[in-house]
Amino acid sequence: MTARLIDGKALAAQVRAEVAARAAVLAAAGRRPALAVIRVGADPASEVYVRNKVAACKAAGIHSIHESYGDSLTEAELLGRIDALNRDDAVHGILVQLPLPAHIDAQRVIEAIAPSKDVDGFHVASAGALLVGRPGFRPCTPLGCMRMLAHIGMAQLRGKHAVVVGRSNIVGKPMALMLLAADATVTIAHSGTPDLAATCRQADVLIAAVGKQRMITGDMIKPGAAIIDVGINRLPDGTLCGDVDFAAASEAAGWITPVPGGVGPMTIAMLLSNTVQACEQA
Ligand code: GUN
Repeated sequence: MTARLIDGKALAAQVRAEVAARAAVLAAAGRRPALAVIRVGADPASEVYVRNKVAACKAAGIHSIHESYGDSLTEAELLGRIDALNRDDAVHGILVQLPLPAHIDAQRVIEAIAPSKDVDGFHVASAGALLVGRPGFRPCTPLGCMRMLAHIGMAQLRGKHAVVVGRSNIVGKPMALMLLAADATVTIAHSGTPDLAATCRQADVLIAAVGKQRMITGDMIKPGAAIIDVGINRLPDGTLCGDVDFAAASEAAGWITPVPGGVGPMTIAMLLSNTVQACEQA
């Protein structure tokens, strides 16, 4: 292995300590940051994610309100809950865990959250603010990736080519915009990209966010590149692996994130950071 590891767990702990210090300043002034987390249905992965988010809030001194509903909750009822939380001055951030059951229009639900409380950064107003370079909440996973790049001295990317593999609203698209804002030359690759390997080989910064285990192979890595692996895929034996073939990529890359212990912990840390920011701005 030649690549240096970007330790997401350690960096996330640092971010969480910074967030806890900001939360303590707010608490001393009588303002307790609070995050409402809503889950609907019985997706087991979501249950784990929400539990982790609630525990992370507690550790950082952020009050969390956890609401869990069964599959029978209607869209109108969910919109009613969001309306009440929007009006509640004691709540600073609102997160509706995705995916939602099929009978609920997720985009309509996201658009119902007040942009000032949209700590996930999924509202169209937040996405628009990112697009035009105005202040607003940034989605937590790409924000965490940018923090990792800053940590290895790559906050500024002028002259660098960044390739984002994946084009989701949650990761790929906002990731590309953040890299562009850092002056990178940005390519977004996806399932319809003709020669993905050749495109990836141009990347000084490669962000893999497709959700396909080990699809980025060693021959797709430019020597010395920084590799950020957003993928979390469960193998048949129960272990987790990323979208990047870690062992092979480590031979060529300059920097690489592990899975687990890479981007995952950063996502939660940035959610806490956005929540404290929402309280600071309230
Ligand atoms: N489901 C998977 N990732 C996320 C996330 O970052 N936010 C929400 N709300 N749901 C998710």
